[in-house]
Amino acid sequence: MKEVIIGGVGKYTPSKKITNDDFSHIVDTNDEWISSRTGIKSRYMSSGEDTSYMAAMASKKAIEEAGISVLDIDLIVLATCTPDMFTPSTACIVQSIIGAKNAVAFDISAACSGFIYGLDIAKSLMNSNKYNNTLVIGAENLSKFMDWKDRSTCILFGDGAGAAVLCKSKEAGIGSSLCKSEGEKWDCITIEGSDVDSPFVEKKTLRDSKLKMNGNEVFKFATSIIVKSINEILEDNNLTLDDIDYIVPHQANIRIIEYAARKLKVPMSKFYMNIEEYGNTSAASIPIALSEMYEKDLLKKGNKIILVGFGAGLTYGATFINWTI
Ligand code: COA
Repeated sequence: MKEVIIGGVGKYTPSKKITNDDFSHIVDTNDEWISSRTGIKSRYMSSGEDTSYMAAMASKKAIEEAGISVLDIDLIVLATCTPDMFTPSTACIVQSIIGAKNAVAFDISAACSGFIYGLDIAKSLMNSNKYNNTLVIGAENLSKFMDWKDRSTCILFGDGAGAAVLCKSKEAGIGSSLCKSEGEKWDCITIEGSDVDSPFVEKKTLRDSKLKMNGNEVFKFATSIIVKSINEILEDNNLTLDDIDYIVPHQANIRIIEYAARKLKVPMSKFYMNIEEYGNTSAASIPIALSEMYEKDLLKKGNKIILVGFGAGLTYGATFINWTI
């Protein structure tokens, strides 16, 4: 069997829901500004659940939906920019929580494009015939890294996880993908690492582990690459926009998607949006959206879907999926 399909999806979000009004007590903001500038009304935030815990909960659901045993999972690829620890990988912690004893597990760091990168990496490794059933996870605990004094960032992000089980099949499933990076723009979004504080260096360097972002630069980048990526994926898969049932974009700002819809001349209804409820959950946003669409019974066998993501790096990517479950 040569093709790779999505055999099951699952999601997990913490129970604590934070509204825009809740933020007006923390920073100088209000519901009107946040809703009209971003499309966000609420987001879920961890009350102590780690990235690994949220990822494991989403994974259990995806495995159950795929109808396989956790012992059949032979590869775990976890995308996050908010790992539990520098080491070990969050994927290894997930492996332990869910009991996926037969898997190879590792993390990838591509921020909000991470799930798209993960699908591409997993599909390539599965095509090498080493692996048969892969868990691809996007999971984030962004609230750990927010600067609660910066009103332009802290209102944007939420926590959660989404997962997909990839299986081998005779049917066509995951089509061609594109994954790209523009490293020269690395400083547009950062969460710095640890301080440099060793007895062997003269000058101590303090690092800020709070998220910082040049919102306007990212906005310009996102609007240009979404249109470009979708057109490239259509061409690669010999499709036109009329063939596509849904475009599932990374949920960062509804105005970015409205701009892309206008440029592509497609109705907003073709884009699946849930930013209003979840905010920007980085690598988790696309698998959470897919899982929610599946739960709502919106996805039908044979649906043609484009996933498109962008984020820190700066990175971006897109994938075509023929929905098979
Ligand atoms: N509440 C009220 N006012 C706010 C605010 C908030 N939460 N955040 C920023 N403002 C203010 C700014 O301070 C600024 O005030 P000033 O004119 O007095 O200086 C004003 O609103 C306009 O700021 P600006 O940054 O131009 O707003 P914007 O419309 O570009 O929206 C973002 C800011 C961050 C929402 C927007 O740039 C964005 O979404 N960028 C993309 C970010 C993204 O997608 N990141 C994730 C990538 S994965």
